[in-house]
Amino acid sequence: MKPEFQLSFAKAQTKFFRFLADRFFAERYGHRAVVLETIAGVPGMVAGMWIHLKSLRQMKTGYGPKIRELLAEAENERMHLMFFIEIAKPNLIERCLILAAQAIFWNYYFLLYICSPRTAHLMVQNFEEEAVKSYTNYLEMVKNGDIENVPAPTLAIDYYDLPANARLADLIVCVRADEQRHAHANSRFADEMSSDKLPDKSTQLIPPRAAHTDAESQRDAA
Ligand SMILES: [Fe+2]
Ligand SMILES: [Fe+2]
Repeated sequence: MKPEFQLSFAKAQTKFFRFLADRFFAERYGHRAVVLETIAGVPGMVAGMWIHLKSLRQMKTGYGPKIRELLAEAENERMHLMFFIEIAKPNLIERCLILAAQAIFWNYYFLLYICSPRTAHLMVQNFEEEAVKSYTNYLEMVKNGDIENVPAPTLAIDYYDLPANARLADLIVCVRADEQRHAHANSRFADEMSSDKLPDKSTQLIPPRAAHTDAESQRDAA
């Protein structure tokens, strides 16, 4: 696939999924976050698994930092879900949608990653940029009073080291920063693939959340 086509394809896919999300959820941002975070946790796990298998097949070193970063992204998205499930409970239709979306999207992303991993990372970069916009809109509605600024879940307070009286707005700011970081990471992965290089060990490792040792036990329990 030509690089220009990869980018166009990734953008078209993102527009299509954004259109569906806008139609289905409109401004129900809590529900939107829950359903979309169940999908957001898929790409990092699929890509991490595939690169792990690639490393095994090729019997080569150098893939470890990228595998760990991708799996950490998937774990971070799963935590977003754990936070927002405290804010909004999905209805029956949304639960069915989650099941169908996972079955379809896992297989779709897996095939895309095998055929064109660069396109897959560009698509995730675009998804993440859309997620930043959605969380910005969500934050605006909370600040305007259109959505109640409820207390942040304890799990999120521990995970992000937030003050005990943190609210939903504080949580959204933290989650949005994570999404921005994922967008940068996937952009970097796509760039590396255009030069067809192995990941540079010195620059790949995502800063570990060293300050969250207490939160780790919470994460394990979640
Ligand atoms: Fe997320
Ligand atoms: Fe993300």
